[in-house]
Amino acid sequence: MRTPIIAANWKLHKNRAEAKEFLNEFREKVKYISDVEIVLGPTFTTLDTVIEGTEGTEINVAAQNVYYEQEGAFTGEIAPNMLSELGCDYVIVGHSERRHIFGETDGDINKKVHAVFEDEMTPILCIGETEDERNEGKTQSVLKRQLESGLDGLDPSQVAEMIVAYEPVWAIGTGESASPEDAQEGCKFSRDLVSEVYDEETGEQVRLQYGGSIKPHNAEELMSLPDIDGGLVGGASLDPKSFSEIISITEELY
Ligand code: 13P
Repeated sequence: MRTPIIAANWKLHKNRAEAKEFLNEFREKVKYISDVEIVLGPTFTTLDTVIEGTEGTEINVAAQNVYYEQEGAFTGEIAPNMLSELGCDYVIVGHSERRHIFGETDGDINKKVHAVFEDEMTPILCIGETEDERNEGKTQSVLKRQLESGLDGLDPSQVAEMIVAYEPVWAIGTGESASPEDAQEGCKFSRDLVSEVYDEETGEQVRLQYGGSIKPHNAEELMSLPDIDGGLVGGASLDPKSFSEIISITEELY
């Protein structure tokens, strides 16, 4: 069985003091959670605070981005070895904000996925169509392109270990999540594609998250869908109460 995984993407929120405050409350609220993997994704400068503040717990930590080179003349970038040295477990790669605001290409994202594995961390590869692409009936072709190029050159064992997050861009930060049908369809399509490109076993093992306006009130219907193994949560992950509620609701489903 696939272990459910609920991850927080804090985006550009929470400095170190705010992260400490969050952790004081959050650690208490999730201390009895044992069947859901929990991941917190702070900004680069807050990573060490969150890593230290979750020591002795089962909570894992994700960076929100990485560069694919280990060192060199790349002003402003962070290398994979720097994240693994800190103790990061996961790296979010190819988030739609990286693709659409910062112009990351499928090729960049594939290099990042490989770089994350090289430093023994696990990528959370984000894919998802924009509203225009959806209206033009291109959802599946966009997911196919992003997933095939994101996974290019990986071994089946790497794909089986990683996380793919289906985040329809039109559902991010809007308060309007995808319908359960659309969320399930996007995740099922992704799983079937992995089975087709790799093999059935790899398709069964890869964990798929849904992301886009997950809140405590819609967590149950989204997290109970057969091809959804967890969530990547933005806004609702900033509050220890709502994020821990989403985790508890998910645990009850398993
Ligand atoms: P929201 O939960 O705020 O819609 O953000 C989703 C997201 O982008 C997580 O990566």
